Amino acid sequence: MDTVDLYQTHRWDYDTPIETTMRALDDAVRRGNARHVGASSMWAHQFADALHTSDREGVERYATMQNHYNLLYREEEREMLPLCDRENVGVIPWSPLARGFLARPHEELEATTRGQSESDAARHPYLENGGREVNERVEELAAEKDLKMAQIALAWLLHKDAVDAPIVGTTSVEHLEDAVEALSVSLTASEIEYLEEPYRPVEVSGHQ
Ligand SMILES: NC(=O)c1ccc[n+]([C@@H]2O[C@H](COP(=O)([O-])OP(=O)(O)OC[C@H]3O[C@@H](n4cnc5c(N)ncnc54)[C@H](OP(=O)(O)O)[C@@H]3O)[C@@H](O)[C@H]2O)c1
Repeated sequence: MDTVDLYQTHRWDYDTPIETTMRALDDAVRRGNARHVGASSMWAHQFADALHTSDREGVERYATMQNHYNLLYREEEREMLPLCDRENVGVIPWSPLARGFLARPHEELEATTRGQSESDAARHPYLENGGREVNERVEELAAEKDLKMAQIALAWLLHKDAVDAPIVGTTSVEHLEDAVEALSVSLTASEIEYLEEPYRPVEVSGHQ
């Protein structure tokens, strides 16, 4: 294709001055190679620096943040999401189902090939602190509402004003359809509070 709708940079580049990065991205937009530019997981102070640099230099600014956000990982609520809200930046979270950890009961997490490798890798703190209980509450609410766990987890995310479009990972049409149906799932304020209540802060995961 000649033009990419959204060209995203992956993480903070510690070796290149941010002015250089933003000018290069601006060139890509001016040449018509990209319509918009976005960034993915980094510290909020770094993202604020990138936005401020674009404004100061009069070049294209990041329009989106692709960050790590789901019911089992909510550290982004401290700094990044309020920053995106204030700066009018679109939020498109990755791993909205916590890599599948929010799509099935925690006793069955290793039931699939991917589940096995995820749990072996133990790269994310999904089941630490209150994670198991959050997983159980998602299962309980899904049964109550005759929905899939994945739909409850996605509906929670879609109820967050800060979130524009979660990037759901799936290898099946059925799961894709589940995700689309989650758009019309309503959760009450008390259901949202019930899902959130067991969560306790965990180690930052997804960037350094
Ligand atoms: N920027 C970054 O640093 C970063 C990091 C990680 C990921 N990403 C991006 O984010 C995308 C999504 O990440 P992810 O794959 O970790 O996302 P995810 O949506 O959190 O998890 C995907 C897992 O959930 C399962 N699943 C999806 N819908 C389901 C349903 N209705 N019922 C049961 N299981 C369901 C999938 O299984 P099936 O395959 O069987 O459907 C898959 O194992 C990736 O494609 C990647 O491009 C970006």
